[in-house]
Amino acid sequence: MSLEPSAISVKNFIHEAADRELDERGLTAFTNPSASALGNFFAGLDQRWTGNPFERGFEELIPIGRAAARPGSLSSFTGAAAQPMHTDAAYLASPPRYLVFECVDPGEVSCKTEAWVTNQAKLLEERPHLLTNPRWVFLGGGRSRFYSPVLDTVLGIARIRYDPYCMSAAGENKTTLNDVSGLLASYTRQVSFEWTQGAFLIIDNWRCMHARGVGGESAPSRRLRRWYLGAKNGLGI
Ligand SMILES: [Fe+2]
Repeated sequence: MSLEPSAISVKNFIHEAADRELDERGLTAFTNPSASALGNFFAGLDQRWTGNPFERGFEELIPIGRAAARPGSLSSFTGAAAQPMHTDAAYLASPPRYLVFECVDPGEVSCKTEAWVTNQAKLLEERPHLLTNPRWVFLGGGRSRFYSPVLDTVLGIARIRYDPYCMSAAGENKTTLNDVSGLLASYTRQVSFEWTQGAFLIIDNWRCMHARGVGGESAPSRRLRRWYLGAKNGLGI
């Protein structure tokens, strides 16, 4: 991981530019999409998408304390504090491919979203044993448990599945979560994203991990919408 996180700029929405940046960098950010333009963009990422994104398919995320959080959710472990890097819905057999966040209110103080973008070429070439072979049991979201490595290859993509709160070592696997996160970090580049009202951030949930950074406890008004796109269970509804 590079020492200094790089930033990603927020541009006025242009569909082709967003597609290109998402493909090349694993994430993109923009602002001011119309409802129909955003709907078309969503449909390009998930063929099942229909309708006005501002009216459907999202969840609202706010910093909440442990006690108020849904049992088993990330917030039930971290509260409003900074989160560990993770894949969203790692407990699903096919986690959503894309995460779309929109900032409704950035909150009282800065509370960034951090993303770790994997070096796909290096991961695909080296396929480190520590990520491809030791097996983990994934369990969460009220779903059945299943075995999976952290890294597998799907549609030519080195897909990461990592969430320290919904995985545990299986059988003979003596690897620790710290071993895994340390190795993952060596294959990633950190990107920091500062929220402004109306900004959108799109993250490839297979190629990147992400986390809410510090500041959530002091930003009770922080409010993001989140859509899941592009997997069997993708819409989150
Ligand atoms: Fe997340």
